[in-house]
Amino acid sequence: MPTGPNATHVIVFANEKGGTGKSTTAVHVAIALAAKGARVGVLDLDHRQRTVGRYLDNRAATVKRTGTELPMPEHATHTDQTEAGFERLFDQLSENADYLVIDTPGRDDPFARTAAMLADTLVTPMNDSFVDFDLIGQVDPETYKVTRPSFYSEMIWDARKVRAKADGTTIDWVLLRNRLQYVEARNMRRVSDALTQLAKRVGFRIIPGLGERVIYRELFPAGLTMIDSKAFGSMGLAHVAARQELREMMAALALPEPAPVAA
Ligand SMILES: Nc1ncnc2c1ncn2[C@@H]1O[C@H](COP(=O)(O)OP(=O)(O)OP(=O)(O)O)[C@@H](O)[C@H]1O
Ligand SMILES: [Mg+2]
Repeated sequence: MPTGPNATHVIVFANEKGGTGKSTTAVHVAIALAAKGARVGVLDLDHRQRTVGRYLDNRAATVKRTGTELPMPEHATHTDQTEAGFERLFDQLSENADYLVIDTPGRDDPFARTAAMLADTLVTPMNDSFVDFDLIGQVDPETYKVTRPSFYSEMIWDARKVRAKADGTTIDWVLLRNRLQYVEARNMRRVSDALTQLAKRVGFRIIPGLGERVIYRELFPAGLTMIDSKAFGSMGLAHVAARQELREMMAALALPEPAPVAA
């Protein structure tokens, strides 16, 4: 498995908490990168739900049905659950790719741990909720001050140590706030303050993710995203705003530009 500055940039979406937006965000990032002309591989490690795999299958079916060309990442699902199978798919999908996007299941999973260790960028989506926050840190019930990091932060901390020792890479750990709502709620400020405190302690960056929008739930059957304007025709204001937040999320991820392909 090649790693290092010129190898495929590996982006892993991971959070042991289920339903935080890993798959939705992973699909949008993969398609946004492909739409820029990058070569993108997508590995779905959630062989039970297969959300990302199914999203991209639906997308391929839309291309076939409508005859509209859409940017299309190459994807595979880790169905056999063996180490050899994981390595084979990892190598196959990263071989000619600028980016490899890996989606992981929302539970403790051995391959999710391996993937976290192979990440160049590790994205942990979470919702503005102390229920989601609990996996990465604990807070005092009265002051909401962070009292200590939780097991998931410790696990990522360890993964980073192993990786730094193995090849000197610092995994860029990004905490992505998903389903942001635009009404200022007191709870949001508290979660946000706690995140800022914890970020310094365990070394992650915090970036804004996708907003809370129906559109992110409706595009799945056709495998589309709101950047596929060709397939949509005219767009409403909500789509325009959604595209803008996707652009901002991509910019905040600060992924390296693909290395030029050797002639
Ligand atoms: N920004 C958003 N706006 C509205 N709905 C969203 C948004 N992001 C995710 N959802 C919805 O939330 C649910 C969970 O999202 P998703 O499947 O992406 O999470 P996950 O972390 O991959 O879950 P799991 O841990 O089960 O794999 C889905 O119904 C999805 O459509
Ligand atoms: Mg998922």
